[in-house]
Amino acid sequence: MSQRHLLNVYNRAEPNFVRGYGPWLHTDAGEVYLDCVSGIATNALGHANPALRAALATQADKLWHVSNMFRIEGQERLAAKLAASTFADRVFFTNSGAEAVECALKLARRYHYARGRPERTVIYSLSGAFHGRTYATINAAGNPSYLEGFGERLPGYAVLAAHDRVAMAEALSRPDTAAIIVEPVQGEGGAREVPRALLRWLRRECTRSDVLLIYDEVQCGMGRTGRLFAHQWQRGCDPDVMAVAKALGGGFPVGACLASERAAAGMVPGSHGSTFGGNHLAMAVAETAFDVIADEAFLETVRATADFLREGLAEIAGRHPHVVRDLRGKGMLVGLALYPNNREFMACAKAQKLLVAGGGDNIVRLLPPLNVSRAEAEEILRRFEATCAAMTMAQAS
Ligand SMILES: Cc1ncc(COP(=O)(O)O)c(C=O)c1O
Repeated sequence: MSQRHLLNVYNRAEPNFVRGYGPWLHTDAGEVYLDCVSGIATNALGHANPALRAALATQADKLWHVSNMFRIEGQERLAAKLAASTFADRVFFTNSGAEAVECALKLARRYHYARGRPERTVIYSLSGAFHGRTYATINAAGNPSYLEGFGERLPGYAVLAAHDRVAMAEALSRPDTAAIIVEPVQGEGGAREVPRALLRWLRRECTRSDVLLIYDEVQCGMGRTGRLFAHQWQRGCDPDVMAVAKALGGGFPVGACLASERAAAGMVPGSHGSTFGGNHLAMAVAETAFDVIADEAFLETVRATADFLREGLAEIAGRHPHVVRDLRGKGMLVGLALYPNNREFMACAKAQKLLVAGGGDNIVRLLPPLNVSRAEAEEILRRFEATCAAMTMAQAS
């Protein structure tokens, strides 16, 4: 078969994976790769996780889809669990991260509309952000390469430099400002953690100006950093609204927009919707994934594995100073800024049967399943070091 009839928007890589288990992926040619992409931080419990498979199969035998015209008990249960674990009171389930962000953007505008301030529509983001590929989310993040060729910029979106507090303070106090959207740890943009002092300051300023603080935890949430949500590393930084997806379904497409009761006040029947969002199949898998990931003992293990990986990577970086420029990110959202081109590094890693993801600012990201064993983490380090050694040799020749 060929890709001839697929819309030509991806440079899809060989090989052709046909089977997976845990962090291992098998090709149609019988080769086995160690997967540190995890469907881009999605397969948090590894491939073919037995608990998720059982949840999906059991639900598949009962009921798949009824639409949101009817009650879906799985939504009610998972929303209650998300609310109990976060700032949130209300949850809307989606099929993807971009849709979760879309819901957050709409909700922010409706909040002000419902309070009699329809002029408050402008939503700010931080430079280097990624919020998805729908029309609103590319406008929200403002990355010129994703906007090119898609016509005029949507009004009501603007980007702020993450280091410019003066500009931020001015923006947040404008009479037409609705919200600011922030990834507590940026993923695609370069695996950068937003300084905690900035999150604290944003929380204070947003409360003072009645601007909604939206977190995009699509990539950094659901245990990826070693806490259930990345902002929970810091007390007193809760958002008003939060977008979640990726690991929420452990590989099944599902997302969620969480909001406080106050922020959600403008969302009334008819103001938003989705045919598939939160259907029975998605909820069965997501609730099972949530029960595993939200368990404090599981998160403790994630933190221990992350520390082990990060210490090992720091040592490897020290041994290969002409390859690795910087170790970034948080927990198991690992970013390594490189001197050589990250695409070349990814190809070299692939030759070592190690799959890593790219990212902005010439980084590679290691996003292994959160439940990799110590032996698997050691193997990741071995293959990463072999890649660095091969890159060093290539530089020397
Ligand atoms: C932070 C962040 N927000 C939103 C998205 C969009 O999610 P999706 O691709 O599921 O629409 C992504 C995807 O990579 C992301 O990393």
